[in-house]
Amino acid sequence: MKIIETLEKLGEIQGGSLVPTMGALHEGHASLIRAGAASDRPVLVTLFVNPTQFAPNEDFAKYPRTLDADLKIAEAAGASAVFVPSIEAIYPGGLANAASLAAQFSLPPIATAPRLEDAVRPTHFGGVCLVVSRLFDLCQPSLAYFGEKDFQQLRVITQMVEENSNRWKSLKIIPCATIREPDGLAMSSRNRYLDPSQRIAALGISRALQSVAHCSNVANGEALMRKILDQHGLETQYAVIRSEKTLCAPESGVKSARALIAAKLGAIRLIDNAIVGISTPNG
Ligand code: PAJ
Repeated sequence: MKIIETLEKLGEIQGGSLVPTMGALHEGHASLIRAGAASDRPVLVTLFVNPTQFAPNEDFAKYPRTLDADLKIAEAAGASAVFVPSIEAIYPGGLANAASLAAQFSLPPIATAPRLEDAVRPTHFGGVCLVVSRLFDLCQPSLAYFGEKDFQQLRVITQMVEENSNRWKSLKIIPCATIREPDGLAMSSRNRYLDPSQRIAALGISRALQSVAHCSNVANGEALMRKILDQHGLETQYAVIRSEKTLCAPESGVKSARALIAAKLGAIRLIDNAIVGISTPNG
């Protein structure tokens, strides 16, 4: 596996499968890399903690950085190369300039309409779209892999690529299923911050999602999720059932939707989501 730190060396592996990450790799990231390797194209994993997607009060400085372990996980999962750029390589105009580019980024509707991550983290998707579009330009992948764990992010990037089909001509976004711990907690780089009692409380999120796996009334389903989150001592930011397509209210008559949760345990913020089967009470 090659380790690439400069833009010049990137040219050698264009047209492959791209797996963008912020490092602190776990089994969830590894599953994306394995999916990429199964495509029989070279897999490029990027490890870059992107400053423009963190608000000043968020955990950019404290975000876990575990490069040696990341390299081992990436290689074992089948990566051909790992790109570990400096901030200057990604943002040659400097960070202040990058922050203003992120703020001005022309976002697709799904990054602003649902009032989910976009409401809680208003500057977040500008930074995500800025860095991901930069990585697409630099790496020119044919396939790019993103996890359903960050469902709104996956939909934002998919919509951004659809809206820019001339810029990234044959790029296809491949969604990958959420990987969970055996007890149901979605894997996340931030889980390592949970103390033992918070680790138990965090199970409220997957339990709340499971409680609406089959649902006949959206409002009742949302109330049930909130109740379960409360019972586990979680502070709910949102617990909603939305259209899979728009992430706004589900269209009438749809058979499936997406439950999405963001909740906090102290300073630790966790997000998760799952599919919901919608049934009419008598049908
Ligand atoms: P990061 O949080 O490191 O996640 C990188 C990729 O791994 C994302 O596509 C995310 O959805 C996926 N992932 C994380 N946990 C997962 C899990 N339990 N199961 C399946 N996939 C999982 O998301 C980012 O980084 C950044 O915003 C990024 C897109 C790299 C832009 O900076």
